[in-house]
Amino acid sequence: MYLLIPAAGSGKRMGADRNKLLLQIRSKPLIAWTLLAAEAASSISWIGIVSQPPDWDDFKSIIADLRLKKTIELISGGSTRQESVYNGLQALPSHAKRVLIHDGARCLATPNLLNACSEAIIDCFGLIAAVPVKDTIKVVKDNGVIKNTPDRQQLWAAQTPQGFDVKLLKQCHDEGIRQGWEVTDDAALFEKCGIEVRIVPGEETNLKITTPQDLAMAEFILSSRE
Ligand code: C5P
Repeated sequence: MYLLIPAAGSGKRMGADRNKLLLQIRSKPLIAWTLLAAEAASSISWIGIVSQPPDWDDFKSIIADLRLKKTIELISGGSTRQESVYNGLQALPSHAKRVLIHDGARCLATPNLLNACSEAIIDCFGLIAAVPVKDTIKVVKDNGVIKNTPDRQQLWAAQTPQGFDVKLLKQCHDEGIRQGWEVTDDAALFEKCGIEVRIVPGEETNLKITTPQDLAMAEFILSSRE
């Protein structure tokens, strides 16, 4: 399975002055934990890290330190996640039929989850890992007043990995560019194009590391796995 890792963001919401994926968690850069999970997932054979060229020296030395055995390519990132995935798709080997996309910032996803998604995408065109939401979710207007409360039974929190048929995902990205759609995950492009996306049970610990509090949670979760 081909795996694209969007890793070209900044550290803005983290309050960091550099790519948050280079911040340390338990004595390793955040992205190292994501890469170790990908290396340990037997279904993954090729890894494309989509990142900003000024970070490439750092990424290269992380890859060397981890002594990863899988084929790894560095691909130039874009100014949004959507653009970064687009660039990643263009860099896939031409014979790639299916792809998993997994945010570099989700460094707690287990090899089992990556393998489960690789297996499930063989039988469908699009899927995402997701978990049912525990909180009651409110839709809130600009003036800070609640507009409505969606039925919690139908709400799931989207995670990555997300898996897709490569040809269809490329078509959906192209349509997104034509229509000016701005999305925060790839499943949203499939949905907008009217293509079915399935849910695969995700993991409660599969946090997207975004804030300093998430970093502390990640430290805790990783230490509890030792
Ligand atoms: O910012 P956020 O954590 O929501 O981004 C999700 C993932 O997308 C991260 O792994 C981040 O590195 C990546 N990203 C990217 N290119 C961008 C912005 C974000 O690859 N321009």
